[in-house]
Amino acid sequence: MGFQIWVMGICLLVYCLSLNSVYVNSSSLEGRKKEKGKVFIDGKASIGKIDEDFICATLDWWPPEKCDYGACPWGHTSLLNLDLSNQIFLKAVKAFSPLKIRLGGTLQDKVIYESKDSKIPCKPFANKSSEMFGFTPGCLPLKRWDELNAFFNKAGALIVFGLNALAGKTLQSDGIATGAWDPSNAESLIRYSFEKSYNILGWELGNELSGSGVGTKIPAADYAADLISLNKLLKDVYKDKKFKPLAVAPGGFFDQTWFTDFLSKSHNNLDVMTHHIYNLGPGVDEHLIDKILDPSYLDGEADTFRRLQNVLRGTSAVSWVGEAGGAYNSGHNHVTNAFVFSFWYLDQLGMSAAFDTKTYCRQTLIGGNYGLLNTTTFVPNPDYYSALLWHRLMGRNVLSTSFSGTKKIRAYAHCSKQTPGITLLLLNLDKFTTVQANVAFNQTLSLHHMHHQKHRNFARTIKWHQKAAAETKRAEFHLTAKNGDLASQEMLLNGKVLSLSSSGDIPELTPTHVNSSEPIVVAPYSIVFVQMPYIHLPACK
Ligand SMILES: *[C@@H]1O[C@H](CO)[C@@H](O)[C@H](O)[C@H]1NC(C)=O
Ligand SMILES: *[C@@H]1O[C@H](CO)[C@@H](O)[C@H](O)[C@H]1NC(C)=O
Ligand SMILES: *[C@@H]1O[C@H](CO)[C@@H](O)[C@H](O)[C@H]1NC(C)=O
Ligand SMILES: *[C@@H]1O[C@H](CO)[C@@H](O)[C@H](O)[C@H]1NC(C)=O
Ligand SMILES: *[C@@H]1O[C@H](CO)[C@@H](O)[C@H](O)[C@H]1NC(C)=O
Repeated sequence: MGFQIWVMGICLLVYCLSLNSVYVNSSSLEGRKKEKGKVFIDGKASIGKIDEDFICATLDWWPPEKCDYGACPWGHTSLLNLDLSNQIFLKAVKAFSPLKIRLGGTLQDKVIYESKDSKIPCKPFANKSSEMFGFTPGCLPLKRWDELNAFFNKAGALIVFGLNALAGKTLQSDGIATGAWDPSNAESLIRYSFEKSYNILGWELGNELSGSGVGTKIPAADYAADLISLNKLLKDVYKDKKFKPLAVAPGGFFDQTWFTDFLSKSHNNLDVMTHHIYNLGPGVDEHLIDKILDPSYLDGEADTFRRLQNVLRGTSAVSWVGEAGGAYNSGHNHVTNAFVFSFWYLDQLGMSAAFDTKTYCRQTLIGGNYGLLNTTTFVPNPDYYSALLWHRLMGRNVLSTSFSGTKKIRAYAHCSKQTPGITLLLLNLDKFTTVQANVAFNQTLSLHHMHHQKHRNFARTIKWHQKAAAETKRAEFHLTAKNGDLASQEMLLNGKVLSLSSSGDIPELTPTHVNSSEPIVVAPYSIVFVQMPYIHLPACK
């Protein structure tokens, strides 16, 4: 079977080589352009393997008083005050079964955990401009931790908890935090969670304190020593369990020298290396949309993924994007919570996976201007549906994929998740051009086979496979902005607006079925997932 499809791939390749022309229909009233192009997929072997639950989103600590550029976009979305009884929220998380959720953010290094024998009152964060990050330390009440875990358990979420890495340290005037990490408060939370059987997938140490740090920084050697204490603690607490939660760090911006040093001094105590991505600049930037739609700007992040992959090569640690909101200081309303952001987000998912990132945590699940869910109504924004489609369609094995044609098409492919075959993701960043894409596969093995076995029947083979393709259909999920407005918070799937049912249920995500002998049509400013169940590649075995 695999061999037959290989031959078909070659045939498609031959077929579309003859169609690789570009034409413009100048008589069209709209001035819309049409172009042809080819997606090349190397099916020999996968180039990355993502976690089954690659999609992850964050919940943060920011209180309602957190403001940026004159707006205060967090509302009641903090871990301390989020409404856990909201039914839309529950359904939205449940739809993933499971959704990985990373709990953390800037204020995590100022959090105190209440313990059974706490002597001081457990108070929330309070505004204080003289303090680092503008707030006093805040406390997580055990009762709230119980409520959060009850929700996570009910919603089927996998939790990664970001611990305060500054406990016990002294902030020096030169911006460095010195002294050893004091694990005692973290230990009380970890032991409590263990006793309650809370399902914590990983414990992460610190937020943005690596490299040059944000607010303050910890030298790599000290951080490695702290991580070793954390992992020792985890091994001790979970000693009778088969599964020890993951030791995760440092949750900061990639810095090759610091990361390399930290990793070598961690002596295999690190399970997951997390890094953060805000590559579009500050939320206040007026050119966010231009950057998102600029292929060379998007390509800029590949270098970080590539270098991180090299840093990890030969070690037992894997990499996750632990927090990525695109634009820092809470994002930008009507950009990072609108349709246009799915171009950035899905491109990031595709690109990170191609460099063997295992998990990608989006800042945020809810809160700020970059939530997958609306801050006040909990109604999904377009990126929520983009994440859900990815989660349901894109399988673990990542295929090397390139697009030959306009630079405005971004192309990614994985083996499919629950169905046979492969799933393609195409993003069209162009406002006017409709792209007709054919798919071709390359692999030397199949050519070899063909020479030996099918040489004389080549023409007949092509015919046979064109016929086979014509007898099959593929499933397509086309995403567009409502009224073509990139700033819209409503998204259409195959022309129909995605909205909750009257009882707040997440809608079904229904594909259209297209004759496999037709090229894939990618409309201007659109995104398409294409499930091709009839393509059997060695990489997907
Ligand atoms: C060009 O556009 C015109 C007007 O929309 C249409 O009638 C014609 O069929 C188009 N031609 C091609 C080759 O697409
Ligand atoms: C807290 O600080 C922010 C920013 O400094 C300010 O905008 C806000 O009004 C303050 N809120 C309170 C309750 O003091
Ligand atoms: C949340 O949804 C409401 C109602 O549709 C809308 O008015 C508001 O702008 C949305 N908030 C954000 C931050 O997108
Ligand atoms: C096969 O396709 C991959 C991915 O598009 C590409 O990187 C590679 O160069 C191609 N190999 C050959 C032999 O064409
Ligand atoms: C697909 O299109 C081909 C060529 O137009 C046609 O012969 C075939 O019957 C179609 N297949 C299906 C399943 O509609």
